Amino acid sequence: MAVGNLLLSLLTFSGLVQSSPLSPRQNNAWEKLPPTPKLPSPISTTKLDINNVKLWYQEYNKPAGGDPIVFIHGGLGYSAYFGDIIASVMKNHYVIAVDRRGHGRSTYNADDVFTFEMFAQDTYDLLKAIGVTKAMWVGWSDGAATTLAGLLDPTITASITKAFVFAGFQSVADSNATYVDTAIYPEFISRCKSEYAELQPAGNFSEFGGKVATLEGTLPTWTDEDLARIDGAKVTISGADHDEAVNLAVPEHLNKVIWGSKLVMMTGVSHFAPMQDPVQFSRRIEEFIAG
Ligand SMILES: *[C@@H]1O[C@H](CO)[C@@H](O)[C@H](O)[C@H]1NC(C)=O
Ligand SMILES: *[C@@H]1O[C@H](CO)[C@@H](O)[C@H](O)[C@H]1NC(C)=O
Repeated sequence: MAVGNLLLSLLTFSGLVQSSPLSPRQNNAWEKLPPTPKLPSPISTTKLDINNVKLWYQEYNKPAGGDPIVFIHGGLGYSAYFGDIIASVMKNHYVIAVDRRGHGRSTYNADDVFTFEMFAQDTYDLLKAIGVTKAMWVGWSDGAATTLAGLLDPTITASITKAFVFAGFQSVADSNATYVDTAIYPEFISRCKSEYAELQPAGNFSEFGGKVATLEGTLPTWTDEDLARIDGAKVTISGADHDEAVNLAVPEHLNKVIWGSKLVMMTGVSHFAPMQDPVQFSRRIEEFIAG
């Protein structure tokens, strides 16, 4: 999330990073980046025209009814990173997967300046366009910041019945400065680059990645007073006990300033918890839906 380093990585990684021999330290689940999960089929080929971009989305188990659970992935990745969780939660619930503007299969405009408010507006407008007026939002990292932006917007928050904010942050200072030194970091960046090339053969990952780097290097800038405006009764703040990307004290702080919110910590996992321990993560989501 450190902008300079992310930009540098984007410019210098021309291909796959050679993986170094596994050191004993990487035997811990929180130090591994499991393969990117697959979304359950079918994979929609439809994109919706929303706010001058084409947004990809997929509904699962709509007949289950009720407010859908919308999964909002992290920066540079796409909806498939939530694939294991979606596969589990969709068994009993109406679920919607979305690729945010620019990410995965969704497009962006060359002159876009990404903001979390823009992403929240896109998500809200996409849901409205498909007839969804109430939804539960589950956000991870940049998706968690998108969820917070939605909760802070008077119109959008009225449509969010509940929110699960995993590995979220309120400012650039919440980023862990040593994230770029971890083994996972270059592996994640180079993986996103090759996935992007597959999903958007005509895309320019340097340009797209530069926009994400600028976003993460400058936003959000929410104060504690800003966050105190959120109706915490419908919010679950979640974090990972080994998060290497967001400072470890952040979940507790968000929980404290978003009055009335719940705090649910995941154990034995890092920023990539939905891939490292999908059973634990899915259980927490089921509790959130039921709670
Ligand atoms: C891709 O984007 C980068 C950064 O914006 C730019 O320098 C480069 O020329 C672009 N490449 C192509 C093939 O358009
Ligand atoms: C940053 O992450 C490392 C693990 O990669 C951790 O040891 C350290 O405590 C974290 N720093 C903060 C401020 O949370």
